[in-house]
Amino acid sequence: MRSQARTMLFFTMLISAALTLGWVVSDSHAEDQPAEESSSFDLREFIPAGPSGADPSKDELFPLQPYELIPKLEGQVAYGSVENAPLLEQPIAYSHKLHAGELQINCEYCHSGARRSIHAGVPETNTCMNCHKNISTKDRPELEKLVEYYESGKPIPWQKVHDLPDFVYFSHKRHVRGGVSCQECHGEVQETMTVAQRVNTLEMGWCLDCHRDHPKVDENYGASAELRRAELKDCLTCHK
Ligand code: HEC
Ligand code: HEC
Ligand code: HEC
Ligand code: HEC
Ligand code: HEC
Repeated sequence: MRSQARTMLFFTMLISAALTLGWVVSDSHAEDQPAEESSSFDLREFIPAGPSGADPSKDELFPLQPYELIPKLEGQVAYGSVENAPLLEQPIAYSHKLHAGELQINCEYCHSGARRSIHAGVPETNTCMNCHKNISTKDRPELEKLVEYYESGKPIPWQKVHDLPDFVYFSHKRHVRGGVSCQECHGEVQETMTVAQRVNTLEMGWCLDCHRDHPKVDENYGASAELRRAELKDCLTCHK
C-alpha cells in the first residue's frame, strides 16, 4: 500500500513538474525513473557520507519524540510565495532578541534537535523554567502565563511558523552538521525577532538555488562535490 501510494505520488509529481517545467525536467528524469525501479544503480552509493556522519535514518536517536507543536491555524501560510510572512500571535510574548541576542543563549539550547534529527524542535516549558524558576513574575503578566502553563502541566500551544508540505523531505541534521547556519535559512533571528517570523519562502526554488552553489558542498566533499551537487538536485533527495 505504502509503496503504491509513493509511486502514485511520484508520478503525480513527475507529471505536474513536466507540465510546469516543460520537457527539460521530464526528459532528464525519464532516465532516472527506470533506474529506481529495476536496476541497482543508486547515485547515493557513489557519494561518501559527509564528514559529519551517517544518514539520519540510521541515527539511533531518530525519530525523536513527535513534534510538539499544535496544528496550524486556519488560513495560516507556513510556506509559500510570500517572504516575511505575517507575524503570528503566540500564546506568550517570548523574545528571541532578548534570549538569543542580549542574553546570548545558544539556539541549540532551546532547539536541541537541530543537530540530531529532522526537527529542530521547540523547547518544552521545563527548558524555560530552568531559568524562570528563579526569576520573579511580579508585574510581569507574560511570565505569569509561563508559570501557569508550567503548573498546569499542559504544553504551551506555540503556533507553527514554518511547515513544509508532507511530501517534502527536509532534515535539520544534515544541514546543521554540514555547516549551514540557522541564520542562512531563518534570518537574523537574534537581532530582529521577538517571536519567530518566516523570512524565506521554503519553496522548491529556494532549496535548489542554495544547493546549486553553497560553498560548503565543495568544502565537505572535495573531489566528489560535483556528484554531491547532482544528488542535491535529484528529485528523490527531497521527494522520497
Ligand atoms: C538561560 C535562562 C533563560 C531561559 C532558558 C529562558 N529565559 Fe526567559 N528570561 C531570562 C532572563 C534573564 C530574562 C530577563 C529577566 C529580567 O528582565 O529581569 C527573561 C525574560 C523573559 C520574558 C520577559 C518578561 C518581561 O515581561 O519582561 C519572557 C516572556 C520570557 N523570558 C519567556 C521565556 C520562555 C517562554 C522561555 C522558554 C522558551 C524562556 N523565557 C527561557 C532567562 C531565560
Ligand atoms: C537549510 C535551511 C535551514 C537551516 C540551516 C536551519 N533550518 Fe530550521 N527550518 C528550515 C525549514 C525548511 C523548516 C520547516 C521544516 C518542516 O516544516 O518540516 C525549519 C523549521 C524549523 C523550526 C520549527 C520546528 C521544526 O523543527 O520543524 C525550528 C524551531 C527551527 N527550524 C530552528 C532552527 C535552528 C535553531 C537552526 C540552526 C541550529 C535551524 N533551524 C537551521 C530550514 C532550516
Ligand atoms: C530560550 C529559548 C530559545 C532560544 C535560545 C532560541 N529560541 Fe527559537 N524559539 C523558541 C520558542 C519558545 C519558539 C516558539 C515561539 C516562536 O515561534 O517564536 C521559537 C521559535 C523559533 C522558530 C520558529 C519555529 C516554527 O514554528 O517554525 C525558529 C526558526 C527559531 N525559533 C530559530 C531560532 C534561532 C535561529 C535561534 C538562535 C539565534 C533561536 N531560535 C534561539 C525558543 C528559543
Ligand atoms: C542556505 C542553503 C540551503 C538551503 C536554503 C537548503 N539547503 Fe538543503 N543542503 C544544503 C547543503 C550545503 C547541503 C549538503 C550538506 C552536506 O551534506 O554536507 C544540503 C543537503 C540537503 C539534503 C541531503 C540530506 C542527506 O541526508 O543527504 C536534503 C534532503 C536537503 N538538503 C533538502 C533541502 C530542502 C527540502 C530545502 C528547502 C526546503 C533545502 N534543503 C534548503 C544547503 C541548503
Ligand atoms: C532540494 C529539494 C528539492 C528537490 C531536489 C526537488 N524538489 Fe520538488 N519540492 C521541494 C519543495 C520544498 C516543495 C514544496 C514547496 C513548493 O511547492 O514549492 C516541492 C514541491 C514540488 C512539487 C509540487 C509543486 C506544487 O505546486 O505543489 C512537485 C510536482 C515537485 N516538487 C516535483 C519535483 C521534481 C520532478 C523534482 C526533480 C526534477 C524535484 N521536485 C526536486 C523541494 C525539492
